[in-house]
Amino acid sequence: MSTPRKRVGVLISGRGSNMAALIKAAKDDDYPAEIALVLSNRPDAAGLDHAGEAGIATAVVDHKPFGKDREAFERALDATLRAHDIEIVCLAGFMRLLTPWFVETWAGRMINIHPALLPSFKGLDTHARAIESGVKLHGATVHYVTSDMDAGPIIMQGAVPVLSTDDENALAARVLGVEHQLYPQALALIASGRTRIEDGRVVVSETTETPAALIWPV
Ligand code: GRF
Repeated sequence: MSTPRKRVGVLISGRGSNMAALIKAAKDDDYPAEIALVLSNRPDAAGLDHAGEAGIATAVVDHKPFGKDREAFERALDATLRAHDIEIVCLAGFMRLLTPWFVETWAGRMINIHPALLPSFKGLDTHARAIESGVKLHGATVHYVTSDMDAGPIIMQGAVPVLSTDDENALAARVLGVEHQLYPQALALIASGRTRIEDGRVVVSETTETPAALIWPV
């Protein structure tokens, strides 16, 4: 019998293009995870429509009625995830900071995609800051979520060149293309049990050959 696919919950707040990339990848029966739930803190998140059209269960836990009680909001999130037997949580443009309680509850089972090559450019406005700093390579990172924002063990990264003609939008679009490749691959790695954490670093088993260096400008 084949190994059961891991049940994944995707947390979104907005358009959900990374969520859509995960849904697309998981359509393949050989993919080691299924998207079992898309959960939003915003009732108007555009990604909810896409998920519904794709036949995925959706849920909304609006943070607003909870006011400043972040843990009560997160207990509702957690209850919804458990009600759907979720095993792995993917944050995909989820715009709420999570308390240590939620992070601990899902430790080792929750990942995030960040639009920069961490540990550079944690936080917001990563593309504008990358241009401003003059870096020649920028990109995206998938990492485990820990209590320190954008600082958990790195699972996978993808890089793109920064062109001298780039503005924030052009660079964001190039990075987003990489995100859509990266996130499904990173989720597949952890869902198939090919990662382990040693000394705070992710070790990936069975990697294939080393690719050529990405050097820019040429
Ligand atoms: C992405 O750039 C992701 O890296 C960041 O938030 C954005 C979400 O975009 N965490 P989308 O909703 O997946 O289109």
